[in-house]
Amino acid sequence: MSPPVKLFFFAFLALLAAVHGDLQIGFYNTSCPTAESLVQQAVAAAFANNSGIAPGLIRMHFHDCFVRGCDASVLLDSTANNTAEKDAPPNNPSLRGFEVIAAAKSAVEAACPQTVSCADILAFAARDSANLTGNIFYQVPSGRRDGNVSLASEANANIPSPLFNATQLINSFAGKNLTADEMVTLSGAHSIGVAHCSSFLNRIYNFSNTSDVDPTLSSAYADLLRNKCPSNSTRFTPITVSLDIITPAVLDSMYYKGVLLTLGLLTSDQALVTEANLSAAVQENANNSGGWATKFAQAMVKMGQIQVLTGTQGEIRTNCSVVNSASLGDVLMGTAHRPEVATS
Ligand code: HEM
Ligand SMILES: *[C@@H]1O[C@H](CO)[C@@H](O)[C@H](O)[C@H]1NC(C)=O
Ligand SMILES: *[C@@H]1O[C@H](CO)[C@@H](O)[C@H](O)[C@H]1NC(C)=O
Ligand SMILES: *[C@@H]1O[C@H](CO)[C@@H](O)[C@H](O)[C@H]1NC(C)=O
Ligand SMILES: *[C@@H]1O[C@H](CO)[C@@H](O)[C@H](O)[C@H]1NC(C)=O
Ligand SMILES: *[C@@H]1O[C@H](CO)[C@@H](O)[C@H](O)[C@H]1NC(C)=O
Ligand SMILES: *[C@@H]1O[C@H](CO)[C@@H](O)[C@H](O)[C@H]1NC(C)=O
Ligand SMILES: *[C@@H]1O[C@H](CO)[C@@H](O)[C@H](O)[C@H]1NC(C)=O
Ligand SMILES: *[C@@H]1O[C@H](CO)[C@@H](O)[C@H](O)[C@H]1NC(C)=O
Ligand SMILES: *[C@@H]1O[C@H](CO)[C@@H](O)[C@H](O)[C@H]1NC(C)=O
Ligand SMILES: *[C@@H]1O[C@H](CO)[C@@H](O)[C@H](O)[C@H]1NC(C)=O
Ligand SMILES: *[C@@H]1O[C@H](CO)[C@@H](O)[C@H](O)[C@H]1NC(C)=O
Ligand SMILES: *[C@@H]1O[C@H](CO)[C@@H](O)[C@H](O)[C@H]1NC(C)=O
Repeated sequence: MSPPVKLFFFAFLALLAAVHGDLQIGFYNTSCPTAESLVQQAVAAAFANNSGIAPGLIRMHFHDCFVRGCDASVLLDSTANNTAEKDAPPNNPSLRGFEVIAAAKSAVEAACPQTVSCADILAFAARDSANLTGNIFYQVPSGRRDGNVSLASEANANIPSPLFNATQLINSFAGKNLTADEMVTLSGAHSIGVAHCSSFLNRIYNFSNTSDVDPTLSSAYADLLRNKCPSNSTRFTPITVSLDIITPAVLDSMYYKGVLLTLGLLTSDQALVTEANLSAAVQENANNSGGWATKFAQAMVKMGQIQVLTGTQGEIRTNCSVVNSASLGDVLMGTAHRPEVATS
């Protein structure tokens, strides 16, 4: 090859390596070089005050991506005419960390106005949370754009229920083009964070007409949980229990050891050992923390690409909790995209 062709060829290879779908690692390299470090600083500061922020942000990214793709729809506020995702039962009141995304967004807007999407900020913040809690680090392909629609009904329909069995869990993730193995891998996020009593109440009271307690839950653990959680708990009852009883604050593969010891907290956690091939993945992850961490990072990157808006799709919101309003110019020119569903 002649030198110019060779140069072009390698530039092309480099481009291929950096491209993940339409997203690119370092998308803001030139337009906002401080974006990722500003987000990291905001997350680290919030984490220093309240370590629960990290699990909150990892879960928020998941709940964003499973509903209309990773478009920051989970961050939009409800309006007089619309109940947004964040007010749907799977998110309200348990989803936490909105103020951290807002703080990161203000810092980024101050450095580079109207350049960095809320969807990317959330993806970066989830990555930083994995670093803080598990020393798990991965590059986040970016260039996501923000959506303008957020419907509580879609959160209810797309976020998997903690009551799901193995088949339902596999189907839920398959609907997002994630494999059964990736479902098991990502469930390892339950290695950190908490659940409210209402999320596992089905297992400790009135489980069946023959047993008050789920027989697949450790009975000693069930006693402890019944002590902690009144039978009339609702999702608003402010009592929580760690999802991983072994290493509750460390993002590691001990969660899987807990599941194997019938210490998985949710029906959906214990469901991972009800199917032979899922159970094999659980055992493998339990035995191989390094292998799980690598798979977790890869699966987070894949989850972060679900149905993303890129290029000229969507918008770069200036305030993550409201859609941009059309400029007067757009209105006069008749080119405004009037938000019909989520609006302020
Ligand atoms: C496999 C299906 C899943 C189900 C059924 C499920 C369900 C739940 C439920 C019910 C809670 C507790 C909410 C509460 O009561 O406060 C929870 C917490 C959590 N989930 Fe999941 N989840 C699933 C997958 C995932 C995935 C894929 C991730 C991220 C990659 C994730 C990350 C988390 C985290 C970090 C928490 C703790 C949140 C906090 O402490 O604020 N979950 N999940
Ligand atoms: C941004 O810079 C990093 C580090 O030099 C590089 O790996 C990445 O490919 C760059 N991305 C873009 C889109 O320029
Ligand atoms: C620190 O965390 C607590 C909750 O644990 C919260 O109420 C408070 O606003 C946080 N403070 C700052 C400065 O982030
Ligand atoms: C919201 O609902 C009110 C009352 O029904 C109506 O007047 C208003 O036009 C609606 N706004 C949008 C943006 O649809
Ligand atoms: C991971 O977090 C530590 C702080 O705990 C920070 O010093 C480090 O720079 C982070 N690593 C990356 C690659 O962001
Ligand atoms: C899982 O739940 C679905 C829906 O309730 C049900 O049809 C199916 O039989 C269940 N599968 C197993 C293995 O329990
Ligand atoms: C899953 O992949 C199919 C085939 O590539 C695509 O048509 C579909 O939109 C994808 N679904 C999601 C949720 O990404
Ligand atoms: C389990 O088997 C089914 C089909 O038999 C397959 O689709 C799925 O990917 C397998 N799951 C794992 C975790 O290997
Ligand atoms: C258990 O179920 C029975 C019948 O459905 C109901 O009357 C009772 O209140 C329930 N008890 C608890 C603790 O939920
Ligand atoms: C308990 O429920 C099962 C079905 O779930 C039913 O077949 C059985 O007859 C019930 N037993 C009693 C004592 O009610
Ligand atoms: C729930 O039950 C507890 C006793 O276990 C009682 O003190 C409390 O008032 C009840 N709360 C509601 C909302 O019924
Ligand atoms: C995991 O380790 C346990 C105990 O050391 C062993 O019985 C099991 O076969 C191992 N499973 C896998 C998949 O390596
Ligand atoms: C949302 O934004 C897209 C792209 O900017 C636009 O085409 C669409 O009309 C908007 N929808 C609503 C409901 O505002």
